[in-house]
Amino acid sequence: MPGPEQTLCFDRQHVWHPYAAIPSEEPRFLVASAEGVRITLADGRQLIDGMSSWWSTILGYRHPALLRAAQEQLARLPHVMFGGFTHEPAVGLVQRLLRLAPPGLEHVFLCDSGSVSVEVAMKMAVQYWAAQGQSARRRFLALRGGYHGDTWGAMSLCDPEQGMHQAFNGIVPSQLFAPVPRSRFGEPADGAELAQIEQLLAQHGHELCAMVLEPIVQATGGMRFYSAELLAGIARLCRQHQVLLIADEIATGFGRTGRLFACEHAGITPDILCVGKALTGGTLSLAATLTSARVAAGIASGTPGLLMHGPTFMGNPLACAVAVAVLDELEQFDWRGRVAQIEEQLRRELEPCRNSPLVQDVRVLGASAVVEMRERIELARVVPQLVQRGVWLRPFGKLLYTMPPFVIRPEELARVTAAMREVAFG
Ligand SMILES: Cc1ncc(COP(=O)(O)O)c(C=O)c1O
Repeated sequence: MPGPEQTLCFDRQHVWHPYAAIPSEEPRFLVASAEGVRITLADGRQLIDGMSSWWSTILGYRHPALLRAAQEQLARLPHVMFGGFTHEPAVGLVQRLLRLAPPGLEHVFLCDSGSVSVEVAMKMAVQYWAAQGQSARRRFLALRGGYHGDTWGAMSLCDPEQGMHQAFNGIVPSQLFAPVPRSRFGEPADGAELAQIEQLLAQHGHELCAMVLEPIVQATGGMRFYSAELLAGIARLCRQHQVLLIADEIATGFGRTGRLFACEHAGITPDILCVGKALTGGTLSLAATLTSARVAAGIASGTPGLLMHGPTFMGNPLACAVAVAVLDELEQFDWRGRVAQIEEQLRRELEPCRNSPLVQDVRVLGASAVVEMRERIELARVVPQLVQRGVWLRPFGKLLYTMPPFVIRPEELARVTAAMREVAFG
């Protein structure tokens, strides 16, 4: 068995990590196990996870109900192809998703990751309009400041200038972009903002199949929380101009913003909804694309009348069984109360960061908070400092943020916010 140093050394030389170089100089830590909100490193140090493993482990690591569901399913049927077969975990999951999702969504495509669920949403929109005899409608309108994933189509929807995929500009399909939302959460919509979007829809409606956005929270693209009235206005404009609305709730879905889905803040149902991340509580990779009867029937009325997507691990029974357990747990556990308490504590303990001359802004919504610094955060310096404090956070750009598991205890969250204040004051 190689020792921890050898493992880390091999990793640096040979294993690609997200948005990383080979060989890599970034600080990297060898994980041995995790339980609840704590990650244990190979050297025995314990870290409180303020990231929920990229916002997925909302119920904590190794939650007993999720482990039980996984073990029972593993013993029975870890995987079977979804072409020609179906199974209880998939059907049970779809029943629960439809019960919880905004009203009017009736059909579900189960896929492997968030990015793929966005690809499926894009295909649904293109196929829908082609079936209506409007195959010129094949472009998408997205918001600048957005992030929708790393696959080819999803990359084309990300901010082309401030986003992470500039290397592919000119190769990925060219989409249209509306400005970054300015109206903040809790504020009314700025009429000028809506007018700009209306102009784009009016001018380009004939070539647009859908508008794509992250409702309320632009996550990876900047941790911005925008006006529910703006979202409602955009949904209204899309309807008026007959452009489908795709809501990417991969980051916001399952309670993160204080509502089960962020669309609920604006009282809207999109034509297509993408979910992922927290769907399995961070246990396994699974995502879903939900749509309305109108879109599904539209696709069916075209040629070839089939939705043209079907990955090998579609509807994986193991992942579906765990997702069923997550949704059952969410229906029993007072996550609303927990998220409200987390929000109140984040506000109380992070607002003082505004007093630091190094800090540009502090934003809190539900179980998410960001301290925006004036300068770029040096990962190589700040992450080891946080680890020394027993806290796991992974800032990006100027953003120091936390999206903790909903089961974090107040004293654990206090350690996360104390470490954030320390960084904020330099
Ligand atoms: C809003 C949003 N959409 C899509 C994705 C891509 O999901 P995945 O990383 O599972 O492919 C992410 C991931 O961070 C996201 O935040």
